[in-house]
Amino acid sequence: MLEKNWLDLGSVDSLKDPPLREISVQGKPIALSYKDEQFGAILGVCTHVGGPLGKGKIDGDHIVCPWHYWQFHRVTGSAPPGYEDKVPQYELKIKNNHLFIDTNPITKVHKSAHPPHQLERPIKREEGPIRVVGISTTIMDSKNPRYSTSDKLLEVAIDYAKNELSAQTMFIRLNDLKFRACEGFYSKSAFACTWPCSITQMDETDQLAQVYEALIYWADVVIVATPIRWGAASSLYHKMIERMNCVQNQITINNRVLIQNKVASFIITGGQDNVQDVAGHMLGFFSELGFVFPTFPFIAHTRGWDAEDMERNIAYVAESDDLKNGAKDLIRRSIEMAKIVLHQHLSREEIVKAGRKAQHLTINEEPSDIR
Ligand code: FES
Repeated sequence: MLEKNWLDLGSVDSLKDPPLREISVQGKPIALSYKDEQFGAILGVCTHVGGPLGKGKIDGDHIVCPWHYWQFHRVTGSAPPGYEDKVPQYELKIKNNHLFIDTNPITKVHKSAHPPHQLERPIKREEGPIRVVGISTTIMDSKNPRYSTSDKLLEVAIDYAKNELSAQTMFIRLNDLKFRACEGFYSKSAFACTWPCSITQMDETDQLAQVYEALIYWADVVIVATPIRWGAASSLYHKMIERMNCVQNQITINNRVLIQNKVASFIITGGQDNVQDVAGHMLGFFSELGFVFPTFPFIAHTRGWDAEDMERNIAYVAESDDLKNGAKDLIRRSIEMAKIVLHQHLSREEIVKAGRKAQHLTINEEPSDIR
């Protein structure tokens, strides 16, 4: 048993408000709380992925982690009934109206073994023909569907890949999936943005897991189709790629590249112009994830800035053999590139900060002596 090592934290009155704060005791973050005339002190490092408990909030007798909302009793450090996790508790005493903490915790941390999420598994390409996923990002009332130029050209490409190029294919319409927008876990801390996505782990009803499964594990080629809306890709496209932050962030915090040996290409259509800007954004984003591209990695169509007669635009695309052949050639080039990439293994499983400056990212690690 360690000897008590009492440290004066300050006057009692000065520590009552705010009711939860993070203090540093010999370099360790402590979540110090005050409620119902009782102080509590527990190690301020969440057992999930290290969230700062002292910066969370109090709910009843528990501290709620600010990162993904796990809870720990503010005095004992125990998770709510039914959960076994526990963070160390520190003893407190009041003397001469000052609050003292024993710097040696009286309980130990306990991190129970949580079964890994199905998306947290080794990435290994299964044997078989080239696999192509098409992702349509146009938005419409699915009960009253309309003709979509981007969706139709994507269908042409996918059908061609399946019927003429012997690829396995999958077609995902984001419009059919229910998924939440990114809620900015990364904005709390790079380490709060987890793989698999924090939302995917917490919300079983969120269907973006299908897209992660296809992109990370299944497909060799990803072909994304978008309309142009006010000069940009569709809002559904942006909703999807914001949720891809967790994929890129693995490079930032772990030097881990989840996208390996995969090819991306794009179909972009719109009534008015701005193709190159949309293509530039899409190429930039998918390159940040680790994708490579075929030569001439997108096809596009607009009738120009002053073309407001959209019904003619639909007729043009529906009747255009050039565009359909362009879609076929695009998927052919993408598959050819996928074969090269797979054969030569051009990607890498690790890369240091993806070329960014190697700033030192650290997480609040619990000191090893109290593990
Ligand atoms: S809930 Fe605390 S780090 Fe995730």
